[in-house]
Amino acid sequence: MKKTLTIILLSILAGMTAHADEGMWLPSLISQRIGDMQEKGFKLSAEDIYSVNQASLKDAVVLFGRGCTGELISPEGLLLTNHHCGYGQIQKHSSVEHDYLKDGFWAMSREEELPNPGLSVSFLERMEDVTDLILKGYEPGMSEDERVSIVKNNSKALIDEVTKEGKGLRATVEALYYGNQYFLFLYRQYDDVRLVGAPPSSIGKFGGDTDNWMWPRHTGDFSMFRIYADKDNNPAEYSKDNVPYRPKKYFKISLEGVQEGDFTFIYGFPGRTQEYIHSEGVRYIEQVGDPHKIRLRTLRLDVMSKYQSQSQKVRIQYSSKHANVANAWKKWQGEMKGIRKMKTVQNKQEFEKTFSMWAANGEFDGVVEKIAQIYHDLEPYQFATDYYSETARTVELAGIAYKVAGLLEKENGKELAKEALDAFYKDYYLPIDKECFIAVMNEYDKNVPAEFKPEYYKECLDSYGSIEAWAKDLFASSLFADPAKAAEADLEAVTSDPAYRFYHEYAKWYNEDILPVTRQLNQDLQLAYRDYMRGQMVYCRTQRVPKAFYPDANLTLRVAYGHIKGYSPADGTYYLPSSTMKGIMEKDNPEIFDYNIPQRYREIYAAKDFGEWTDATGEVPVCFIATNHTTGGNSGSPVINADGNLIGINFDRVWEGTMSDIVFDPEICRNISLDIRYVMFIIDKLAGAGHLLDEMTFVGR
Ligand code: ARG
Ligand code: ASP
Repeated sequence: MKKTLTIILLSILAGMTAHADEGMWLPSLISQRIGDMQEKGFKLSAEDIYSVNQASLKDAVVLFGRGCTGELISPEGLLLTNHHCGYGQIQKHSSVEHDYLKDGFWAMSREEELPNPGLSVSFLERMEDVTDLILKGYEPGMSEDERVSIVKNNSKALIDEVTKEGKGLRATVEALYYGNQYFLFLYRQYDDVRLVGAPPSSIGKFGGDTDNWMWPRHTGDFSMFRIYADKDNNPAEYSKDNVPYRPKKYFKISLEGVQEGDFTFIYGFPGRTQEYIHSEGVRYIEQVGDPHKIRLRTLRLDVMSKYQSQSQKVRIQYSSKHANVANAWKKWQGEMKGIRKMKTVQNKQEFEKTFSMWAANGEFDGVVEKIAQIYHDLEPYQFATDYYSETARTVELAGIAYKVAGLLEKENGKELAKEALDAFYKDYYLPIDKECFIAVMNEYDKNVPAEFKPEYYKECLDSYGSIEAWAKDLFASSLFADPAKAAEADLEAVTSDPAYRFYHEYAKWYNEDILPVTRQLNQDLQLAYRDYMRGQMVYCRTQRVPKAFYPDANLTLRVAYGHIKGYSPADGTYYLPSSTMKGIMEKDNPEIFDYNIPQRYREIYAAKDFGEWTDATGEVPVCFIATNHTTGGNSGSPVINADGNLIGINFDRVWEGTMSDIVFDPEICRNISLDIRYVMFIIDKLAGAGHLLDEMTFVGR
């Protein structure tokens, strides 16, 4: 039977339409979504979410540090984020005498709150479409280089203008939809942010890597900070005289609880998504990039785990490194599987075919083919880049040698190098590094074509005969294999060291042979995507395809709304949407590091000393899942109910749904949040820091 073109189009696009709950929306344009939000239960207005004239929810949300979100919960600048977002700060304040990572930390008075040089939080003052301003002077037919320079100059002028008056103002101009639109984001940045409290890692990281990206989850992933300001409430550098910041808005804490089906709303800073990419881009990720990167990381994780299980010392030394490597490793596995299950490559190919027919002889003629061609040219370079970053760049000894060389060039280089070396050796175990080198370089040898390998590599392999022999010599003869020798070495000795040479030769090859090509091709790609993106929009509008577009995440403030919902990860299994403390007691095991809770916690549970922090069944709720569209950067985001009150803190997604950075499946994509009642329970009962609750406002208490 012959289907009409429109029917074919519609059925294909059904696979790409903004599904219910998909989307990361711009707060300033939220009036376009507010009808849908209200229909789904939200009781506030667009102005309540974002307003430049009055205090709104956006004034209670901050970009925390370089890539997390935080929210204000008291009139005195108290802020919540994740434990894994505050981890670096908690670690810096820790020492053998007081190990805050292990034991937790709670300031019992304002004086005890700990300053964190280098940490800042930013409030969004306003955002605005500035496309016309930014493209002023650009004429069709100009080259991309000209366009880039016009955008750069206009952006700089605008940023200078808007940040002229007012303390702590900072602005960025961001390209949305591949540069079809430009938005100004004006922030006020506060630099005096102090640590108020964090649970012990056995609570804040409960489940560790074992449970990471998983549901059912029981991680108490939160930490607490306070913003300080000068006496006029303006941003100021750290000073004893600073006073707690008085926010325009802070969240009230809801103790009303959450039920399957309840409306949820996430307000935060998602980092990066690619929802509109071409099938060829997805194919690379699913069939080439992800599988290779996963395999390389599996090899390294296996080596680490082997040595970690043999020694308590090594386990601690490599726990954070292992966690870092494992985080993306697990995410990619879900992503790959999810893309496959969603048949994203095929769906996109079919869409591209139809789009291409539609586009023939028009403005968007050939754009789909052009993108495919660029991906084709890019692929071997991308592959070489992926291998480089997952192999040569992961050799720890080479990394430190290169770092030390850089430091020795500085004035007080000796001192800086000593510091760097001390920090390095504290957590270094050479047999792991060496065995990882052998494992990943053998894969590299097998899988990367000769013309994408540096001459240096070929020479080394030729002269040693095998990766094993090469590794044996490198790790024996490098002066960095011996901390005492490394501490003595001068610049000349370092730059002729084999570990340094390894890093240097690879970097040189990458910078000269690979990077210029990938840079150019990526620029071409951006340009083609700018047309394709606009093309997709025009196409959907003119062909009456019901699709709501939202710009890909780029670490700017977004709204994602959905509802609390369980999911079925596999046939015959259904996961309920919430977990409780009972599950922690079920997992509790003093023998297993990830599941070993504090003794006091066991006692609290045995005594059922839960205070007012229980659900209807009398258990303390811990985590819940919902259908909100989130990604990395949304960690620490406030989870808000229909009344605009705080019900949780976002911190993760389920691994089966991590393809949501590319394609969203409402059946399986779930964000994971900490129930706010659990946060209060920990502060009140485990930490004994109940005085902090006096600052907060509770609803349903
Ligand atoms: N998966 C979460 C995210 O991507 C948490 C990562 C930190 N936790 C860990 N066990 N590695 O940020
Ligand atoms: N865990 C992530 C973060 O740190 C959140 C996610 O990827 O869902 O931002």
